[in-house]
Amino acid sequence: MWQLLERASRDVFEGFGYEEIRTPILEEAALFQKGVGEGTDIVNKEMYTLTDKGGRSLALRPEGTAPIVRSYIENRLGADDLAKLYYLGPMFRSERPQKGRSRQFHQIGVEAIGSFSAYLDVEIIVMMRALFKRLTLDEFKIKLCTLGCDKDKAKLAKELRAFLEPEKNRLCDDCKIRLKKNVLRTLDCKVESCRVVLRNSPKAKDFLCPSCTEHYDKLKAMLSSLKIDFKEDPNMVRGLDYYTRTVFEVTHPSLGAQDAVAAGGRYDNLVGDFGGARVGAAGFAIGAERLIMALSAEKNIGLQDKMLDLYAATAGPAARDEAFKSVIALRRQGIYCEMNMRDKSLKAQMREANRKKAAFTAIFGEEELGRGEVVLRSMKTSEQRNVKLSDLAKEVRKGL
Ligand code: HAM
Repeated sequence: MWQLLERASRDVFEGFGYEEIRTPILEEAALFQKGVGEGTDIVNKEMYTLTDKGGRSLALRPEGTAPIVRSYIENRLGADDLAKLYYLGPMFRSERPQKGRSRQFHQIGVEAIGSFSAYLDVEIIVMMRALFKRLTLDEFKIKLCTLGCDKDKAKLAKELRAFLEPEKNRLCDDCKIRLKKNVLRTLDCKVESCRVVLRNSPKAKDFLCPSCTEHYDKLKAMLSSLKIDFKEDPNMVRGLDYYTRTVFEVTHPSLGAQDAVAAGGRYDNLVGDFGGARVGAAGFAIGAERLIMALSAEKNIGLQDKMLDLYAATAGPAARDEAFKSVIALRRQGIYCEMNMRDKSLKAQMREANRKKAAFTAIFGEEELGRGEVVLRSMKTSEQRNVKLSDLAKEVRKGL
C-alpha cells in the first residue's frame, strides 16, 4: 500500500510539473516557532525539541511547509518564477495517539511557491483530487473556506475577541487560553458548549476585502466549472498560523474523530516573513496513514501479490546449475521468476509454485536437458509440453 501511494503520488505530481524536494528531518526549532506560530498547538504542545551539543535548539519537523520555504529562500529555488515541489516523508508530533493519530506519521505534500493567482489554488486542489481518483478513493469530501488576507484576519480576530470576551466563562479551558493567544482557533473548537457560544460569532467572510473576495469567487467558479465538488465551511480555521485566503480540508467518513485525510491552503506572507521576496504560495499535505485507512475502508483497492511469471522446478541435483543460470537469464529479459534454493522434492516445489501463483512452471529434468529442452507447464490449464531451453523466454511471454 505504501509503495502504491508513493508511486501514484510521484506519477500524478510529476504529471503536473512538480519535482521532489527532500529537506532534513531535524531543523531549528525557531523555524517552526516563527513559521507555524507560537500560539499554535503544534508548536506549544506537540513539537519534539532537543538541544544539541552546540546549544542549538532543534526540532523534529512537525510539518513540511516551513522547511520548504526555508529551503526555497536559501537555495534560490524561485529562479524560474514558480517553484513546484512535492515531498514524501515522516513528520513528528507529540500528541496522544489514537485512531488516525500517531507521533510519527507520514505526509505526502505539495508546495507551489511564486504566485498569487487563484489558478494555483485550483491547480493543487485538482491535483490532489486526481491522486485520490487514481487510487480509486471515492467517498472523500473537500471543504473550503477563505480567511482573507492579514488585514482581514486581524479584523476578524478583533471582532471575535470582542464577541467572546463577555462569554468567557462559558468557554472550555483551552478556548480561554486561545482567546488571549490565538483567538481564531476558537472557531473550530469541538467542545459542544463552545460550539453553542460560537454559533452566532463573527465569521471570516464578514471581513473580506474586495481583492480577497474576488480571489475566493474566482477559485470557486473555476472549481465548479471543472466539476470539482466542494462544500464551503465558514468555521474552518487551520491549526497553523501561516494561512491567508484559501484554506481547505479533505475528510473521509471512515476515519472517525480524526477525519481529515488531507489539508492545505495559501500562505502568501510566509516567504516574506522568512526574509524572502513577497511571493504568493499554496500547498497541501495528505496524511499517508489516514489515506491508507480510507482506502482500506472503501476496499476498492487491496494488496495484490505480485504474480510469478515462471517457477523453475528441478528434478535431480544435476539440473540445478542449468535452472539457476536460466532463472538469471530470464530475469534479465524481464520475466519474473524464482527457483527453490533448498533441496526440496519436485512435489514440494510444485506446491510452492502453486502457492506463489506462478503462471508457468518449467521443470528442469536431466533427461530433457540432455536434449536441450525443459518441460513447460501452464499452472492454469495443467497442460504441459517440451520446449527448447533457448525458446523458454519466448514461450513464457507468449502465454502470459
Ligand atoms: P496539517 O493539517 O497539520 O497540515 O496536516 C496535514 C495532514 O497530515 C492532516 O490532514 C492529517 O491527514 C495528517 N496528520 C496530521 N497530524 C497527524 C498525526 N498526528 N497522525 C497522523 N496523521 C496526521 C500541515 O501539516 C500543513 N503543512 C499542510 C500544508 C502544506 N499547508 C500548506 N502546504
